[in-house]
Amino acid sequence: MDRFEIRGGNRLAGRLTIKGSKNAALPMMAAGLLTDQPFVLRDIPDLADINNMVRLLGELGCQVSRQSADDIESPGGVFTLRAVDESISHARYDIVRTMRASICVLGPMLARRGYARVSLPGGCSIGERPVDIHLRGLSALGADITLDQGDIIARVPKVHGKPGRLKGTRVFLGGPFGSTVLGTANVMSAATLAEGTTVIECAACEPEIVDLANLLNAMGAKITGQGSPRITIEGVKELGAVDHRIIADRIEAGTYMCAAAITAGDITLDNCPVDALMAHMDRLHHMGVTMQWDAKADPMRASCRITATRGLKPIEVTTQPHPGFPTDLQAQLMAVLCLAEGNSVITERIFTERFLHVAELSRMGAQLYRQGSTVIVSGVRKLTPAPVMASDLRASASLILAGLAAEGPGPTVINRVYHLDRGYEKMELRLQSLGAEVQRISERDEATLAPGVA
Ligand code: EPU
Repeated sequence: MDRFEIRGGNRLAGRLTIKGSKNAALPMMAAGLLTDQPFVLRDIPDLADINNMVRLLGELGCQVSRQSADDIESPGGVFTLRAVDESISHARYDIVRTMRASICVLGPMLARRGYARVSLPGGCSIGERPVDIHLRGLSALGADITLDQGDIIARVPKVHGKPGRLKGTRVFLGGPFGSTVLGTANVMSAATLAEGTTVIECAACEPEIVDLANLLNAMGAKITGQGSPRITIEGVKELGAVDHRIIADRIEAGTYMCAAAITAGDITLDNCPVDALMAHMDRLHHMGVTMQWDAKADPMRASCRITATRGLKPIEVTTQPHPGFPTDLQAQLMAVLCLAEGNSVITERIFTERFLHVAELSRMGAQLYRQGSTVIVSGVRKLTPAPVMASDLRASASLILAGLAAEGPGPTVINRVYHLDRGYEKMELRLQSLGAEVQRISERDEATLAPGVA
């Protein structure tokens, strides 16, 4: 297992191009199952989760290729797919357990093939993560859903012995924590091929859903209202070929904004989706971070300069569905607030247990007091290097940010960075290009360095 060693204290400066969005890419790759025509996506990042999705789609009868971009400054590579054998519709536990987003294949496969068997994803380190709302939505469209040996089995009932279609209807996708992003993706994708009109109420408004709807429309779907809580989908009989460039990754961009903030740095992000980051940028602004971009540029692909000085101000922040502050940036902002001058309050309202980074940040000298889904962050003058353990994707990013600012003898050692590789492409190289001292130590390197090993 790889680990990172970071010697903190450098002020980061320079320029980076934001990669294509992981969370947009995953449901969009699955949408390739909705057609047997050529399907091309551009700006696909080179990440472990993307590779898992490529493998899964290969197992589901698709010819898939992924060409990665060699240049670390490119926003990503090209993914192509063609569904050639639509009879293999089983997403096995072996793959689903490595990546929960595998659930995205359920809606497309069901709508196009009339049958899908998808292993029920288990919990993960950020919480329980049920899929009941996905299933409720698909059954409202007429699917028969059962559970067999841990697999979801979804079928479109036959009509007089012939393959049937899902039926458009009004579906409510709200749950105890608001809407569901991948649930909206599943139901919206399935409804494109349903008979009649589907109206999704309490739909997720995330930019990744807007991009998915735009992709589906480019394939011939008739979707309106994406980006609002009511999405209307007029079903069509079939969808066709597409070539689509995906949006930039707002969470990667938000993380590098935090890197500028925590190191009192000066970083310019190209291909930066400022329009999708308003809540995060509002919080950074209140902390005293300066962000500048050209108001005339495409607000989803702007060049944004982030500059910060020491002595950031404390703030309150609550995670919410978009356009509120994203849960996927909570851990990273917490790392920055550890060094603010005063007490901050962070409340997590999407995944109420998503706090595994709290104990690890405390090992680096952070003063954190958790009560239920709220953490009080009492700012300290400095963080100190320590060995810490990454527990999930965004928690790993938070520890790296803390490591960049930690000062003292010895490096910060972050173990289990495979979590990071699920969502941040070549982060160590990108941070090095900004002047950080970060090394990836892989087990292979260690075997070579070990005494007596050739
Ligand atoms: N929920 C239910 N029932 C459901 C579905 C969700 O109760 O059927 C609850 C969840 O437990 C959670 C809330 O609803 O409390 C929101 O979950 P949501 O379904 O929106 O999460 P998701 O679609 O599974 C995506 C992202 C996550 C991101 C969340 C919230 C992808 C691949 N994943 O997950 O990203 O945190 O939306 O914005 O798009 C990450 O990138 O690190 C990550 C975890």
